Amino acid sequence: MTYAPFDLSGKVALVTGGNRGIGLGMATALAASNAHLAIWGRNQDANAQAVELLSKLGSGDVKAWSVDVADEASVVDAMAEVRRHFRRIDSCFANAGVGFGGKPFPDLDTETWHKNMSVNLDGAFWTFREAVKYMVERAQTGDPGGSLVGVASIAAIEGAARNQAYAATKGGLISMLKGIAVEHARHGLRANAILPGWIATDMTDAAQGSDVFQSKVISRVPARRWGEPKDFGGIAVYLASDASAYHSGDTLVIDGGYAIF
Ligand SMILES: NC(=O)c1ccc[n+]([C@@H]2O[C@H](COP(=O)([O-])OP(=O)(O)OC[C@H]3O[C@@H](n4cnc5c(N)ncnc54)[C@H](OP(=O)(O)O)[C@@H]3O)[C@@H](O)[C@H]2O)c1
Repeated sequence: MTYAPFDLSGKVALVTGGNRGIGLGMATALAASNAHLAIWGRNQDANAQAVELLSKLGSGDVKAWSVDVADEASVVDAMAEVRRHFRRIDSCFANAGVGFGGKPFPDLDTETWHKNMSVNLDGAFWTFREAVKYMVERAQTGDPGGSLVGVASIAAIEGAARNQAYAATKGGLISMLKGIAVEHARHGLRANAILPGWIATDMTDAAQGSDVFQSKVISRVPARRWGEPKDFGGIAVYLASDASAYHSGDTLVIDGGYAIF
């Protein structure tokens, strides 16, 4: 028999950047656990492919919206549409992210800084703000609850050489979530961050093709392999479920043991 809270029937989860990579890994497990799913991403073909795949996995309704999270109006409108379509939002995964880095810190230009900020931090801010508005409203009608999840990175807690802009977005994301966790616990909300290590997705394409990276970095991962999107399925279901009702303000590191080695 399945542990009852892990059956997400009737719950609605929103995953930004859910059309590929880690977001799709989380969405796959959420769909298989019967959640209704809202997927946001810019690429309409990738969105359509994700909906086709995810719709076959469980009993929930799956719908995608073409959204650029770096655009405030686009986020505000899309959140309203998700509410209109599903009538509720139980969990919100701000996962959409980009990684622009690689230059020595003195050469880090303002444009690169802003490119990281606009998606990873501004985008997560607008996504959470709109979700929290709705969840607070819902709590005030006697139906408290909601789970906010930010996909940060171990870059937030390790010295990320040549990657300060990206790392700063992820550190900011964790701080924002802790603030939400404290301010909105009274509305039944919880807010947590997931910190992935080195995961094989499009974002790490160049590193995956590098022998130097393989021998100097991946060989130091105690699990001795790259992480995969499916490694984020279990944590997504847990955080979307009532099993995590008393779990808030945490940073959950999923990195095959890399950060402690
Ligand atoms: N891979 C790793 O090793 C690693 C490690 C630590 C943390 N992370 C974090 O994990 C998250 C997912 O990364 P990933 O590795 O799965 O990357 P990925 O495979 O490149 O996927 C990125 C996802 O974000 C979406 N996205 C990007 N910009 C967007 C925008 N402006 N508006 C809406 N959606 C946008 C993409 O969809 P569209 O292109 O269709 O918009 C895609 O679904 C990111 O926040 C990343 O920082 C990754």
